[in-house]
Amino acid sequence: MTTQEHYHVSDRDNYFGYKSFEVGSFGFTRDEYFAHITWPKGSHIMSIDAFLRALMRDVAWGFFYGTVNFDAVFGTTNRYGTVEMFAGTYNEAYKNAGCETLETFHSEELLKIFKEMVTDWTNEGYDPFAAPAETAMAWGKKNGSNDDAVSRARVTAKRMVGVAGDAARRSDESGFPVNRMFADVPQDEPVVEAEPGFENEVAAFNLYAYLSRSDVTWNPSVCSVVHESLFCPTSEEFILPVEHGNDRVEWFVQLSDAIIWDVKDKETGRARARVTMRAGDVAAMPADIRHQGFAPKRAMLLVWENASLKIPELIQKGEAPIVPVKF
Ligand code: PHB
Ligand code: FE
Repeated sequence: MTTQEHYHVSDRDNYFGYKSFEVGSFGFTRDEYFAHITWPKGSHIMSIDAFLRALMRDVAWGFFYGTVNFDAVFGTTNRYGTVEMFAGTYNEAYKNAGCETLETFHSEELLKIFKEMVTDWTNEGYDPFAAPAETAMAWGKKNGSNDDAVSRARVTAKRMVGVAGDAARRSDESGFPVNRMFADVPQDEPVVEAEPGFENEVAAFNLYAYLSRSDVTWNPSVCSVVHESLFCPTSEEFILPVEHGNDRVEWFVQLSDAIIWDVKDKETGRARARVTMRAGDVAAMPADIRHQGFAPKRAMLLVWENASLKIPELIQKGEAPIVPVKF
C-alpha cells in the first residue's frame, strides 16, 4: 500500500472567492451551488449543502467506523491510522465501467486538509450540523465564515455524562436551550441517594432532557462507556448526511418519534431494505450494509457501538459474525 503525499491548497478563486484543493490525484472546487470533485478517471458534482454536511461529519468523527459515503459515488473508509478516499469504488456501475479510483492517506494529513476545506467553504451563518430550518443557507460566493460551528468538538464522555469531571449535562446557562421540537420533554433530573462513602460512585442523568437540548443533528456523542461498549445517543432531523457503510454490527434504539432507514449493500449500493423505526423499536444494522436515515420530525436515537479495533479484522477473516443474532 502506497500512501499519497500530494496536498495542495490554491489561493482563492477571484470570482467565487473559495480555495481549491488537490488531495492525491483528487481535485475539489466549489462554486455558488456545488462541490466539484475530479479524479483521473472521472468527475462528480454534489450540492454544496449536502457536501458540507457530509464533510463536517467525516471531520468531526475522525472518519468514523468503516465507510462514510458522502453519496453513491464519493467517500472515505477508515483503516484506523490510514484512510482511503474513493470515487466509484462502492458503486456497481462505476466499477463495471472501470471509472473508480481509491487512494490511501495518513489519517491526520487528510483530516487536516478536510478541516481546511470545511472551514473555507462554510459561509457566515451556515451550520453544517444544524437542521435545515435552523441554519442560514450554504449558497453563494465566499461570504464570511462560521468557525465556531465547524470546529465543534464532539462530546466524548470518559464514563458518563454528568459524572464529576466528565462531560457536563446541558442547560440554558451553558448555552443549550431546549429545542423547539422537544418543548414537551420533562426536564427533571433523577434524585440520587447514595450510601455514605459512595457519593462519587453513583450517578444518573435524564438522557431525554440532555438530548432535547442538543444544538446539532446526526452527531452521535459518546454519553456512557463500559469498556468497548459505547452508548452514542443523538438527535436527528431531516437526512443523515452520509450513507454509513458499517465495518461492524451496530444497534439502534429509537428513543422518540420515528426514523426511516434506507439499507443498501455495502459493496455495490444495491437496495436491500427499508426499515421504519418508531419509538421503542430496536434494530441491529449488519456489518455488510450501508444505511441512511430520514427523520421527518426531530427524533432521538441511541446508537450503540462496540469500538473494539479488533472487530473489522475478525469480520474480514470470518471469525466474527456480520449479524448479532440469527433467527
Ligand atoms: C450511523 O451511521 O449509524 C449513524 C450516524 C449518525 C447518526 C446516526 C447513525 O446520527
Ligand atoms: Fe451506522
